[in-house]
Amino acid sequence: MDKILTLGIETSCDETAAAVLCNGRELLSNVISTQIPLHQKFGGVVPEIASRKHIVNIMPVIDEALTKAGVELGEINQIAVTFGPGLAGALLVGLSAAKSLAYALKIPLVAVNHLEGHIFANFLSAPELEPPFLSLVVSGGHTALINMIDYNRFELLGQSRDDAAGEAFDKIARVMGLPYPGGPEIDKLAKIGDATAVTFPHPKVDGYDFSFSGLKSAVLNFLNTAQMKGEFVNVADVAASFQKTVVDILAEKTLSAAEKFKLNKIVLAGGVAANSSLEKTLREACQRRGFEFFYPSKILCTDNAAMIACRGYYQSLEKNFANSTLNAVPNLGL
Ligand code: KG4
Ligand code: ZN
Repeated sequence: MDKILTLGIETSCDETAAAVLCNGRELLSNVISTQIPLHQKFGGVVPEIASRKHIVNIMPVIDEALTKAGVELGEINQIAVTFGPGLAGALLVGLSAAKSLAYALKIPLVAVNHLEGHIFANFLSAPELEPPFLSLVVSGGHTALINMIDYNRFELLGQSRDDAAGEAFDKIARVMGLPYPGGPEIDKLAKIGDATAVTFPHPKVDGYDFSFSGLKSAVLNFLNTAQMKGEFVNVADVAASFQKTVVDILAEKTLSAAEKFKLNKIVLAGGVAANSSLEKTLREACQRRGFEFFYPSKILCTDNAAMIACRGYYQSLEKNFANSTLNAVPNLGL
């Protein structure tokens, strides 16, 4: 088989990223320029600042990805770009770069759903992984359980009806005065806290859907009430108790879906997959039940363009190409 070189481009939120992938699994480069320090002083991503910074970064990041891969622009066979979900202005920067390059080079363009990309990060971390499997996608904006029937066929089993798990981590961290993004900060703090110190409610949600807004409010109320009464709060205990509740909810639904749909491989994806407790809990539960467990390496958990190139490659096998009318779809679903 000829070697297909895919250039991946990702600008959906606060990372400007480009990667070069050879065929489906051989990652030649993976460049990520993060804007986190820039947004930190605002406590979250400022969309306008994100777009401006993507404009400054996009071409240098693409150049660096090509250089690191030892590949000339003219050797690239196709371009895969994130078209949603994400911030409109941020997505448009990556899209404009991808469309112009594809047009100038006369090569195909592939439109990639960012959430599907997160699942495909696993194919890069585990070259032996193949569908079918059950995937739990937990990012800053989404929480979903997906039955991956094949590379290009999936079934959405359930998703969050309100806040995403990552969103709850970020909001609670913010109220605790921790820096953005809050997920990794809560993860660190939870390590020194007692996860049994506070009992937070488990939402009652049917089927494989999730809900995290009630839990988020319960934690925020707990913190506010203590503050109003002038009571001391051990934030490490609150962080650990909240994190355990989220992890238990995610693990319970995932394992019950795996049993119901008779899927013996469980694949974790998205930024929250970097959470040490979620990874450990799922890994141990999978071991006990004889399921195989996969999760991406840390650098492939959070936003990157390698996962976009990988998803794009598998779409291109089905000739699922886009044209120059491709536009950003900020609220694109799974
Ligand atoms: O997938 P991602 O990089 O961006 C989106 O597509 O949303 O996910 C970002 C989310 C943020 O909410 C961040 O706080 C969370 O992933 N996150 C974590 C950890 N690392 C990142 N949440 C919990 N524990 C972590 N270690
Ligand atoms: Zn993401």
